[in-house]
Amino acid sequence: MSTIQRSCFGPGGEPVPRCDPERIRQDFPLLANPPDGRPLVYLDSAATTQKPQAVIDAVNRFYTTSNSNVHRGVHRLSQKATEAYESARSAVGRLIGSPSQEGLVFVRGATEGINLVAQSWGRPNLNSGDEILVTEMEHHSNIVPWQILCEQTGAVLKVAPIDDRGDILREEFTGLLSDRTRIVSIAHVSNALGTVNPVRELVALAHDAGAVVMIDGAQAAGHMPVSIGDLDCDFYVLSGHKMMGPTGIGVLYGRPELLEAMPPYQGGGDMIRSVTFEKTIYNDIPYRFEAGTPNIAGAVGLGAAVGYLEEIGWECVESRERDLVEYATHRMAEVEGLRIIGTARVKSSVVSFILEDVHPHDIGTILDHDGIAIRTGHHCAQPVMERFGVPATARASFSVYNTRADVDALLGGLERVIEMYRRGG
Ligand code: ALA
Repeated sequence: MSTIQRSCFGPGGEPVPRCDPERIRQDFPLLANPPDGRPLVYLDSAATTQKPQAVIDAVNRFYTTSNSNVHRGVHRLSQKATEAYESARSAVGRLIGSPSQEGLVFVRGATEGINLVAQSWGRPNLNSGDEILVTEMEHHSNIVPWQILCEQTGAVLKVAPIDDRGDILREEFTGLLSDRTRIVSIAHVSNALGTVNPVRELVALAHDAGAVVMIDGAQAAGHMPVSIGDLDCDFYVLSGHKMMGPTGIGVLYGRPELLEAMPPYQGGGDMIRSVTFEKTIYNDIPYRFEAGTPNIAGAVGLGAAVGYLEEIGWECVESRERDLVEYATHRMAEVEGLRIIGTARVKSSVVSFILEDVHPHDIGTILDHDGIAIRTGHHCAQPVMERFGVPATARASFSVYNTRADVDALLGGLERVIEMYRRGG
């Protein structure tokens, strides 16, 4: 499936290590040939990653050679499209160690996956007074769907607190589990702090209390190996665009026996077995949850992103991102007036920070003049900002295509920001 044009040899025939960052950057057109002609220091991969040529080509090839609808036609093109779509499902299953193929539902992204579970699992299963447990570090997409569910059912949202480093307080988490807890929904990795949660352990604690567990893997998938079988969670969601795939495509993994018992999220074509005005019989899982024509090209692109990541290898991805977080943390410690928000024991690919007397938006705007792209704001995680007593942070986030030179450029930019403010003051 993967059509990666990657050579193990340089222009002079010399061997190029598979994990060579300069080699990897050549796979990403926007990094290799930035549109405005100056180098792009892209440090906003937690918002969305850049896309390798292999993904762009796969989407392009789908439209030029296989475009058709899936699961509908007997003609050859439709079969080709169906095969491409289903082989993308298998690729994602491989990536996240899914114990089953029928538990993998294509959705628009992690947000839609969480909403689907809140409505299709939550509404039939929750009653007034039941509890939903999230943590203080969640993205809005792992808070608001549960609040909507609480309004609909009378359930109560409980929040597990975090400490000053950004780690979940275990005792408090355990203390909040009770026989009223029906579902626990936690980020695998915090988009605002970079905390990698001990999800396997938290899943076990929640299961001991009889709760179902959902993991928001938006910031984990594509950055580290994930094994659903090992985590033993009941639901897991990911967004394709945060792991080098296209936007508008993601996956919800659901334990098949739970999905089987859930009513559809939306009605429409492809999710039915038969329809009369009197009665509709729904399709099998996962198709029951894929009403209407899906994002076929997006799924194909996501499959290619999985192929690309597999070719690079987890050792390369993890060691590069770990090095960048450590290096950035170390260099930022030398900057007067800079405070890192989120210093968890285990972190992944995100460094959030504030600079004394400078609003994060000003940092972002000034850095942008130098071709350095970071994200600033509340990162769709306002409760975390409140927890740390800040309205916003500046955030640098990394992927395997980033280098220490990118971090040096960021630090150089920050020195210029500080200098400007010093002069202005
Ligand atoms: N959730 C995305 C981020 O953290 C958009 O930037």
